[in-house]
Amino acid sequence: MRAPLRNPSAALGISVGVALGVVLMHGPATAASMPANASTLSVCIDTSSPVAPMDRKLAQAVASQQHRALAVHEFDGSGDDDGYDYKNFRALAADQCQIILGYPLDATRGTAPAGLVATAPYGRIGFVLVTPSASRADSLASLPKGTDVAVTNETMPNLYFENHPNIAADIYQKDADTIASLVEHHDRAAMVWRPTIVSYLLAHHLTSDFKWHQLDEPHARWNLVGLHDPAQAGAASAFDHSVAALRDSGGLEPLLSPYASVSADGTRGVRRSDAGTGSPILLVSAAAAMTQPAAGGGSPDAAPALYTAAQADAGKQKFADNCAQCHGDNLEGMAGPALKGDLFASAKANFHVGDIFNIVVKNMPSTQPGSLSHDDYTQIMAYILQQNGYPAGSNPLVFDATLTSNVPLIYRGK
Ligand code: HEC
Repeated sequence: MRAPLRNPSAALGISVGVALGVVLMHGPATAASMPANASTLSVCIDTSSPVAPMDRKLAQAVASQQHRALAVHEFDGSGDDDGYDYKNFRALAADQCQIILGYPLDATRGTAPAGLVATAPYGRIGFVLVTPSASRADSLASLPKGTDVAVTNETMPNLYFENHPNIAADIYQKDADTIASLVEHHDRAAMVWRPTIVSYLLAHHLTSDFKWHQLDEPHARWNLVGLHDPAQAGAASAFDHSVAALRDSGGLEPLLSPYASVSADGTRGVRRSDAGTGSPILLVSAAAAMTQPAAGGGSPDAAPALYTAAQADAGKQKFADNCAQCHGDNLEGMAGPALKGDLFASAKANFHVGDIFNIVVKNMPSTQPGSLSHDDYTQIMAYILQQNGYPAGSNPLVFDATLTSNVPLIYRGK
């Protein structure tokens, strides 16, 4: 297994080709550029997203259904290693269009970025199992024992092997390599983000050689929604109604196919407030932590003593029992990212102790989030700090205080 790269956008899990970094390429936003006219529907479409052609067709159909003209504002949402900035989405929604199409939300607990509201889901996407079309498997459980399955490092499907001892992970750093291993018949199956594999197969005229099935695994199902400014509630509700009308008349499915399916949720009138109040997914909160500027920017020179030696000792064993299977015996990273060193806690990543502790407490172990006691988590955090070069001291690390700790977490070159 190769050492994982720490890449904030890859750590988003869904970043594989989805709208996850927004760079405005079409000039500064001006209020004048948004057609405020009631006879025009204006949408923003991310040209870097594999679902852009689908969103374009959907927008056209919705505009026709409303007897309105369509104005499309294109933007390039491909991010860089610094992750992406919700402010750009808010600026788009404020100035450029009534609705930003093609935003993926985790079907179990995704929420719209702060300051924006999500439309009802209009499509169902997610991570799929891809196999040669001759395969009879339609789920991980139905793959023959011993099947190697290609996955991209730090994407959700890395977590699915745990529950399926019949298969083994073949981990690649990039989606392109994961897909190549399948297409070149090196691996007999792959788990990939549906729009990414579908656009690849379409472009290479391979759609009849391979087939895909939605995975029925934790956080494999995602909804496509539009995002809008709270002030555009009227346009959004009209959009929801048009989508519902298209769906009822059978017109929606052909627009979404083959990138996405019709959302099975019966979504008419489901607004964001009804759509679940769970915390944002781990991956998004991790990215947000990375893009937030340092409050006060603490100095990396003085490594404070934050825990006792006894805590770190106890944490070492608990880490081995609960975390090492994914993060490695020496925190070097395996299915999960490395938890020590420059790739983990670089000054650039701008992590604070509280950011990491929140991820650990709320989302880890990823197969059973929140399943350990407060003491267990605190001791494991002490061990992670020790391994990143922080000294032991006489005051113990305290659970509640650590959740809000603003102490910078920077690898001290131990
Ligand atoms: C079943 C595998 C698995 C187990 C067990 C697990 N993790 Fe993770 N962890 C992951 C994966 C995968 C990620 C990357 C995000 C993702 O894709 O979910 C992650 C992310 C993290 C992160 C965020 C790292 C970053 O750079 O953003 C931390 C911190 C973390 N895990 C700590 C722990 C700790 C502590 C434990 C034990 C209590 C643990 N994990 C157990 C799979 C696991």
